[in-house]
Amino acid sequence: MIEIHHLTKQFTTRRGPFTALDDVSLTVEAGSIHGVIGLSGAGKSTLIRSINLLERPTSGDIRIDGRSIIDLRGAELIRLRRSIGMIFQSFNLLSQRTVHANVAYPLAIAGMRREAINSRVSELLRLVGLEDKHDAYPAQLSGGQQQRVAIARAMAARPGILLCDEPTSALDIVTTGQILDLLSEINRLTRVTIVLITHEIAVIRRICDHVTVLDGSRVLEQGSVAEVFANPQAAVTRQLLLAHEPREAAR
Ligand SMILES: Nc1ncnc2c1ncn2[C@@H]1O[C@H](COP(=O)(O)OP(=O)(O)OP(=O)(O)O)[C@@H](O)[C@H]1O
Ligand SMILES: [Mg+2]
Repeated sequence: MIEIHHLTKQFTTRRGPFTALDDVSLTVEAGSIHGVIGLSGAGKSTLIRSINLLERPTSGDIRIDGRSIIDLRGAELIRLRRSIGMIFQSFNLLSQRTVHANVAYPLAIAGMRREAINSRVSELLRLVGLEDKHDAYPAQLSGGQQQRVAIARAMAARPGILLCDEPTSALDIVTTGQILDLLSEINRLTRVTIVLITHEIAVIRRICDHVTVLDGSRVLEQGSVAEVFANPQAAVTRQLLLAHEPREAAR
């Protein structure tokens, strides 16, 4: 379980301090798929990057399975990061390495033996439906296939949490559905807790059980997907619904 309490993040800019997260609190249940939706600049990436301390919060607390992580450094920070996988809109694969080497990378860094790595990589590529692509390079793959490689790599070290920052924003609508279904299947098989950021209602509807609406660095509403979308309180939630599902929002 991930508990975020009164999280604030201020960036120092040339024009003075900028508050990207303002008193953000939310709870992500273990094993759930929790969506965070909001417009560009809402603070979504800053929030998700705080969960593995790619961003250090200015104040507030983040607890994972009851333990505060915000002061972790050194070896403990490395262990935390290893227990949290992450995927991005832009896939972020190593372009000079094969699919096999990309997925093997975190395992090699963790000191796993070669035979164990090979069998784990085969298992992962089977899981994401790319068992015939071990020797391909990222440039030889479609966007959807590249995101599958990124998912295999993110899941390699059996993380308890998978952070997804707009994982389907670079993909067409059919491929988006396939990638979301894969994430859903991985969640079902491994019980990995997924935090997924998006600006699309359809993405939340397809796989999330809970949703948090973020706008202007603050949480506007949160709850089960069914509740929040059936009875949206915030203007921004209604706007997003209207943009994506005009008939539904007008009801
Ligand atoms: N390193 C930084 N220094 C200064 N300001 C930053 C920094 N990172 C983010 N910000 C600002 O914080 C705000 C939130 O950024 P963030 O990337 O979290 O938004 P987002 O919701 O992910 O947007 P998008 O949907 O466009 O990805 C933006 O106004 C951004 O300019
Ligand atoms: Mg972002």
